Amino acid sequence: MVADDAALAQLRAEGFAGPHACALVTGTGLGALVEAVEERRSLAYGEIPGFPAPGVSGHGGRLHRGRLAGRSVLVFEGRAHAYERGDAAAMRGPLAAARAMGAGRLLLTNASGSLRPSVGPGSLVMLSDHINLSGLNPLIGEASEARFVPLTDAYDPALRRALRAAAQEAGLPLAEGVYAWFSGPSFETPAEVRMAGILGADLVGMSTVPETILARFLGFSVAAISVVTNLAAGIEGGDPHHAETKAVAARAGTDLARLAAAFVARLPEP
Ligand code: HPA
Repeated sequence: MVADDAALAQLRAEGFAGPHACALVTGTGLGALVEAVEERRSLAYGEIPGFPAPGVSGHGGRLHRGRLAGRSVLVFEGRAHAYERGDAAAMRGPLAAARAMGAGRLLLTNASGSLRPSVGPGSLVMLSDHINLSGLNPLIGEASEARFVPLTDAYDPALRRALRAAAQEAGLPLAEGVYAWFSGPSFETPAEVRMAGILGADLVGMSTVPETILARFLGFSVAAISVVTNLAAGIEGGDPHHAETKAVAARAGTDLARLAAAFVARLPEP
């Protein structure tokens, strides 16, 4: 899909055109990243045609442009989740607009539950790959041949190297792992978490995978970071709740903001 013409005209008129070093999406409770963006201009999603109005508390629902580590960025504060309306393509309009505004790289962030007790709440984990356990796909119904998106290196190897280097430079431990997407909005059962572990998952969560698929379809290079907010259901007694998820994400959000800034600083000019 091409982005909504009215949205593009409005975003251009309001100064959101790039080129941008990177577009970023902030996950649940991870709004601290937005505070690190200087010379910010912001628009509520509700003011932009074709943009969703996220309905989950902890999600801001605003698009910002500005400078992170001196580099031009677009930041999506909050995402629409597939579980809100059963629409896995809910972020297609915003991502298409970001691509059309001159962003070629996308850093996705999320909150997740960890299957590894050694990677506990507050840890940052770079996604190395994902498993789609939702039964959904944002490209169902897409008619073009481009729908057959290769996902072999869905999380771009060069961007992953940049993230590792950025973490080292910022003095932040960065684990790596496979993220399993469950549709939510209910949390997983302990048996589902055990299954995900047998299948090779290190993390479970309710987002990111549809955006990765859409972003690869749109031609972005993608990287993703998870902030672990809890041990997944049944892992050493893990019993996730939304309030806890938001609170831990808010505390770890400053580390995420530092990592994102160090990452963006390392990117070549767009
Ligand atoms: N499961 C799914 N999504 C999540 C979790 C979890 O344990 N924690 C934060 N988001």
